[in-house]
Amino acid sequence: MKIAIMGAMPEEIAPILEKLGTYTTTEYAKNKYYEASYRGVDLIIAYSKIGKVFSTLTASTMIEHFGAEKLLFSGVAGAISSELRVGDLIVATKLSQHDLDITAFGHPFGFVPEGAVFIEADTQMIEMSKEVATSMRKTVKEGIIATGDQFVANEQRKNWIGNTFNADALEMEGASVAVVCDALNIPFFILRAISDAADVDASFSFDEFLESSAKESAEFIMKMVDKLVD
Ligand code: ADE
Repeated sequence: MKIAIMGAMPEEIAPILEKLGTYTTTEYAKNKYYEASYRGVDLIIAYSKIGKVFSTLTASTMIEHFGAEKLLFSGVAGAISSELRVGDLIVATKLSQHDLDITAFGHPFGFVPEGAVFIEADTQMIEMSKEVATSMRKTVKEGIIATGDQFVANEQRKNWIGNTFNADALEMEGASVAVVCDALNIPFFILRAISDAADVDASFSFDEFLESSAKESAEFIMKMVDKLVD
């Protein structure tokens, strides 16, 4: 079994590499891929760089070139739901691209012909995450994540995304990774820890909490891997 663990930024995978200690590094398609053996399974780990294009490339590479059979994403997000505070964890039930817009042709936001507004994450891993949360004594919210090539630092935009997609959190990679995994039939799990509230203070909050929130997410992801291995 080969499991991919992906982030968008170095900070999002650093705690995972630190925990593993030893790994090999391979350069491919202008990115670095880290491979390790962990409790009898093979792991392939990478950060993609920010945004939908880079994350599409990395997810595709992990699956098609490195042979990943499951993909787990770890990272941070901006909160839309008022229930979510900095450091809280959210598991994506489904994901959508908030910046995909051909509404001029009568289609809903987030839709292109032969695509779908929402892509659903693997229900088995979502179920598993509830057990992991209980064992870690953590509260983990399940909800909709909206993705776009935009750092949202604007209450109006955030509320529009929340209302249009019924989304609880927003970030810049989840839905593109979901599209790749769905197309290639790879079960995927997307976890985010909140770094900011996607409001006027978002960039300051992001800078302050990126590292600590990324760590929260990474710790949970490794417990998910443990559960998959057990
Ligand atoms: N990731 C974390 N915070 C974000 C924000 N406010 N906008 C987009 N992506 C994010």
